[in-house]
Amino acid sequence: MQKTVETVVKGAPGAPSDPSGHTSNHVGKPIHRVDGQLKVTGKATFSAEFQLEHVAYGALVSSSIARGRLASIDQSAAASAPGVLGIVTHENAPTMNAPLVLSTGGVAASNLPVMQSDEIFWNGQPVAVIIAETQEQADYAASLVRVEYHQEEAALSFDALKSKAELPPTVYGQPPEVNIGDAETELKQAHFKSDEVYHTSRYNPSAIELHATIATWEDDDTLTVYDSTQSICLLKNTIAQVFDLAPEKVRVLAPFVGGGFGGKLYSYNNTLLCIAAAKKIRRPVKLVLSREGIFRVVGTRAPSEQRTALAATADGRFVSFIHQSIQAEVSHGFHSEPISLRARHLYASESRAHSQKVVHLDTVANTPVRAPGDATASFALESAIDELAYMLKMDPIELRRINEPANDPVGGASFSNRNLMEAYRRGAERFGWKYRHAEPRAPRDGQWLIGQGVATAFHSYIRVPSSARICLYSDETALVQVAAQEMGMGTATVQIQYAAQQLGLPMNQVSFAYGDSNLPLSPLAGGSGQTVSILAAVAKAIEQLHQELLRLVQDDSPLAGATLQDVEARNGGLFRRDKADQGETYASLLQQAGKSYLEIVVDTPQPTEFMEYSMHEYGAQFCEVRVNDVTGEVRITRWVGSFDCGRILNPKTAKSQLRGAIIMGIGMALAEDTLFDERQGRIVNASLAEYHVPVHLDIPTIDVIFLDIPDEHTPFGAHGIGEIGITGVAAAIANAVFNATGKRIRDLPITLDKLL
Ligand code: MOS
Repeated sequence: MQKTVETVVKGAPGAPSDPSGHTSNHVGKPIHRVDGQLKVTGKATFSAEFQLEHVAYGALVSSSIARGRLASIDQSAAASAPGVLGIVTHENAPTMNAPLVLSTGGVAASNLPVMQSDEIFWNGQPVAVIIAETQEQADYAASLVRVEYHQEEAALSFDALKSKAELPPTVYGQPPEVNIGDAETELKQAHFKSDEVYHTSRYNPSAIELHATIATWEDDDTLTVYDSTQSICLLKNTIAQVFDLAPEKVRVLAPFVGGGFGGKLYSYNNTLLCIAAAKKIRRPVKLVLSREGIFRVVGTRAPSEQRTALAATADGRFVSFIHQSIQAEVSHGFHSEPISLRARHLYASESRAHSQKVVHLDTVANTPVRAPGDATASFALESAIDELAYMLKMDPIELRRINEPANDPVGGASFSNRNLMEAYRRGAERFGWKYRHAEPRAPRDGQWLIGQGVATAFHSYIRVPSSARICLYSDETALVQVAAQEMGMGTATVQIQYAAQQLGLPMNQVSFAYGDSNLPLSPLAGGSGQTVSILAAVAKAIEQLHQELLRLVQDDSPLAGATLQDVEARNGGLFRRDKADQGETYASLLQQAGKSYLEIVVDTPQPTEFMEYSMHEYGAQFCEVRVNDVTGEVRITRWVGSFDCGRILNPKTAKSQLRGAIIMGIGMALAEDTLFDERQGRIVNASLAEYHVPVHLDIPTIDVIFLDIPDEHTPFGAHGIGEIGITGVAAAIANAVFNATGKRIRDLPITLDKLL
């Protein structure tokens, strides 16, 4: 078997084998993360931490104008500064092809060539890379570079340009516009209606781990890159394509990633420039973005304006449902957040009009940020339903129940598994929703007004092809290998749980290797689709392994003549289903066949379940807020998230994921706001001191509950569980703030000035 230096983590002891001799059920147990100990003891090596000999350090100099051309780059002071080894600019950068964007097989955010000309496309664009013996020397020298520009007029104002917004060619492969019936006329004629405009801001993904790359060229066409990426395999392809290398000569390693949230899904300029710098000075180069650098280079969630109109009959049936969004995009970028998709799958209505348009601005290209589209759209849609429910004097959950569709409202497909109303029922019970006062400004505690709000959480199911290799050894251990990414979600843990269960082995006899593009290909860790995608490949590999083992069975074995259907894996081997004591251990099967191990490699085909079903994850977010009647300060005091995300593989890691996403949603609702100066196109709060994310004191106990209903159309009944957590959060808070104060805030974030 191929030798690798990838991360290998071993399963914890996990669930004890069932003494009755039945399969150990590791799946569904709240197992600790298998990499937890490595992380808390500092033994998990993150990209920036690899120790390479002769490594040099890079620092970026970035443009201070938004559009124009470089007039001159005065490098003299920087070049003679201590420790400087080289300076890369467009004048001497290696030739790099324009990177392919995601839809075309690469993983770039933009198809602009990187540092190949004097043209400036955004304020913050890297214009030089300084390479020095130490990080401090590189940073200092970068501060000495003087850049002059020929400035041109830039498109920077969303409001000024939104009248020129255009429909993108597609939205994640779907048409950008859907119309059923005549929604505008229905709206006009209706008696009960809400027709409002909502705004969401720019958000930075703000992972704790800074974006880091170490690039080392073994020779002119062989390259190893350590990179904090969510896309090991696609990044490898992009690097090969940009530098004209054979993909098999590029190796990307990302054993541990300290959070991504979409902000590490793409290849950004920093990674490609680090590789270029290493090529230039013929030494390994490490380039770690500063926190400010992330704001300049990595991009944000697209800001949006969303008109949302709902009209209903007196008994609450929707007759018109309009959701028209406009978002900022760049002329050279390809990430339009799929803001218009959510409305297509939620709520029945006699007529509907959903569309999304883009405004082209001269900014850094957008990056995905947790639940792209759904996080954004859910604020407008779920606020609008609350507005209409108040008008109808109806409970907002009841209004949703009345409009719960039997089939997909646009496509007409059956839902594979939809228990949204059950999620509401369970959540409402847990939260004590029935004690809520429907009229605002009712409960009060001194200066504090108390309110409660609710909103639907929703995210679409994603699965893509994956590969997996499994090795079963005669000592009854197994190794599963996939080029997967682990950003702290529990990827390795749940795959070990699953593989151990399917193999009938204790968890501590199963290891999982990941984080290396030399391992069998797997998809990017995005769209909450990694777990199910890999699970399908691991399932197929184990089935083939068992098939192969049955082929090795000798004539005198108790398993002689048995087919896959006749056996089950338990107690470290295969046993007959009908005769519990008849079977053989893996050790015995392999020994008799004269093998020390058996290895299986599989690929899964393009999934087809989407063609037949409308497949999504659902949830209900309940919150209680306290709003200070004098200062406008908002405090979240209670949270219940009730989720319908298929079978829960590990409730501990799943709850952590959802809690983290809810916290991120609280940030989106109350604090986070990338401030963009429309005169210069500069992000002005490019630090975590000024870009506010929630801290511990901002967060109450977050109660997460699961329906845990398997979806029979997905691998092992599982769904995605990461991104749905952020959806609906901002609306639940806005709805609770309305319930507390009587003030409806339609612009995020809900800061106290908007409440005074
Ligand atoms: Mo998520 S935005 O697909 O990392």
